[in-house]
Amino acid sequence: MPTALVTGATAGLGSAFARHLAAQGYDLVLVARSETDLKERAEDLREQGAEVETIPADLTTDEGCGAVTERLRAAPAVDLLVNNAGIGHERPFLATGIAAEERLLDLNIRAVLRLTDAALTAMTERRAGAILNVASVAGLGPAWLSSTYPASKAWIIAFTESLASSHQVTSAGVRMTALLPGYTRTEFHQRAGIPTTFPPPWLWLSADDVVRTALKDLEKGTVVSIPSLRYKIAAWGLRHLPRSLSRAVAWDISKPAH
Ligand SMILES: NC(=O)c1ccc[n+]([C@@H]2O[C@H](COP(=O)([O-])OP(=O)(O)OC[C@H]3O[C@@H](n4cnc5c(N)ncnc54)[C@H](OP(=O)(O)O)[C@@H]3O)[C@@H](O)[C@H]2O)c1
Repeated sequence: MPTALVTGATAGLGSAFARHLAAQGYDLVLVARSETDLKERAEDLREQGAEVETIPADLTTDEGCGAVTERLRAAPAVDLLVNNAGIGHERPFLATGIAAEERLLDLNIRAVLRLTDAALTAMTERRAGAILNVASVAGLGPAWLSSTYPASKAWIIAFTESLASSHQVTSAGVRMTALLPGYTRTEFHQRAGIPTTFPPPWLWLSADDVVRTALKDLEKGTVVSIPSLRYKIAAWGLRHLPRSLSRAVAWDISKPAH
């Protein structure tokens, strides 16, 4: 049985990844902070027939990243790493506080860097494996003003694109995909305190649809996966329209009535 390690596996997209991968015959290593949630998710997945390990870890810490990188280097080998855990903040840059901003960078960037390093080292040695890094359509341009979240996701896209097509990775038969979801119904917005009254209902994606597309695209070797036509069009706009126009229509979270 192949093994997949999913970070942020107890809610939203991570939980959907775990369910879809179990249905495809993967055994799972689940990572998140809450031990109670990890136990519950593991029970559900065992009922689906998967072998499940859990690693309670806060990926904003050295200790948490260390526990996961140790597992990525150990046996049985991890065939697929899904770097999914990520957070956003509702408050504008100067109101968030530098400690919270650093936590966002530690989780959205530093943990992805460290886990990718550990997984890729093992996978290139074994000459097999795949890594899926969850970014966001917001990483393609100035989608939110006064937020560091799009910048953290821009880093994931650039990092993944830079490695995915490189000789070092392709010659070892390893696949890498950056997943760029648009607004998806999960716990993300409630946790960050971000209102869900915007955008309109037709712009919200389901976690199951996002995960189905992501796993198909990873299989095909697509480097940048953008689920749904709606967000493919939005991504085209963010990539090709003048940046001044994108900034003018962007959501400014520092405005009093955003
Ligand atoms: N939802 C969207 O609209 C959307 C759109 C674009 C991109 N994304 C991206 O998709 C990814 C998944 O988001 P989601 O919407 O599924 O989020 P979610 O529903 O809020 O789930 C977050 C998961 O990450 C875990 N987590 C949070 N902080 C952690 C930490 N410090 N260390 C380890 N695990 C941690 C949570 O469990 P614990 O709290 O127990 O740790 C939970 O399992 C994120 O990278 C997000 O940026 C989401």
